[in-house]
Amino acid sequence: MSILRITNLKTWFPTRDGIVKAVNAVDLEMKETERFGLIGETGSGKTILGMTIMRLLQPDTRVEGEIVYKGHDLLKLSEEEMRKIRGKEIAMILQNPTTSLNPVLKVGNQIAEAIRLHQGLDKRAAKEKVVEMLEAVKIPSPEKRVNEYPHEFSGGMRERVMIAMALACNPTLIIADEPTTGLDVTIKMQIVRLMKEVTKQRSMLFITHDLDAAAEICDNIAVMYAGELVEYAKTEAIFKNPMHPYTQGFLNSLPNRGLKPIRGMSPSLIGIPNGCRFYPRCDCAEENCKINHPEMVELGNGHLVRCLLHDRS
Ligand SMILES: Nc1ncnc2c1ncn2[C@@H]1O[C@H](COP(=O)(O)OP(=O)(O)OP(=O)(O)O)[C@@H](O)[C@H]1O
Ligand SMILES: [Mg+2]
Repeated sequence: MSILRITNLKTWFPTRDGIVKAVNAVDLEMKETERFGLIGETGSGKTILGMTIMRLLQPDTRVEGEIVYKGHDLLKLSEEEMRKIRGKEIAMILQNPTTSLNPVLKVGNQIAEAIRLHQGLDKRAAKEKVVEMLEAVKIPSPEKRVNEYPHEFSGGMRERVMIAMALACNPTLIIADEPTTGLDVTIKMQIVRLMKEVTKQRSMLFITHDLDAAAEICDNIAVMYAGELVEYAKTEAIFKNPMHPYTQGFLNSLPNRGLKPIRGMSPSLIGIPNGCRFYPRCDCAEENCKINHPEMVELGNGHLVRCLLHDRS
């Protein structure tokens, strides 16, 4: 069963220089207990897509389309109804744990706050629950650590705290935004294992630059480029048989695949030209790629790609 179905989602920011089209006509569907990877280079719109689902963007943002979660369009809910969804149904692990944790509050109190807000527990019950949560994310000596401040935690431990906060109200869906960034390889793999463990019975939208982490965790992967999804397939197919020239380039830029960067830069999201957005950087581009904007086409087995080279219609 589908837990989240996004249709024709657009998130546009009006700015002095023009409209920044950060998310443009995105469609995606997540099944119950699916771990869905969202990958793409910096500025491609991954975080904004997550924030749009959570409805955490500034009020002048233009959002259109549908975000249907368990049969309800989140974009149609009142702010009060949305508050009941946040944390309890859908929790987001924000991209930067250093800025997401309040430096002057004890870690235990910050998690307790999240729990009390949604579960109406008294102080003592919330405190017990906090220790339980820290145990769940494998933080050693949790009774002692609840009284410490964020700066007393290492990067990996802070990330565990973020995961504990997200899990505190037992959400059905977790949106994890770059939970492994800035961690060294050993710690990263521990966090990846933890994320896998805590999402056995739930769904996760896993946003990352880190293809190794995505390969380890995700069932399916969508590749985002300049605000659009350009490829979607089972994780294995993305790695073994990438069809979009951008996905191929992205994979080739990995250290274990030749470290060959894609030439050029990602386009500005203001005044995006017609045609394929990847056209100026694409080694396979043909004349019509400059003019015609490709639609997503299915190549079989649910493998979707937005590229005119594969569009035979
Ligand atoms: N409030 C805003 N006003 C205007 N533009 C914005 C705003 N917030 C984000 N953007 C732009 O939207 C685009 C997408 O940003 P986003 O943070 O989603 O990228 P990302 O894929 O998460 O990148 P990274 O991998 O670096 O985290 C960027 O070009 C960014 O500059
Ligand atoms: Mg981001």
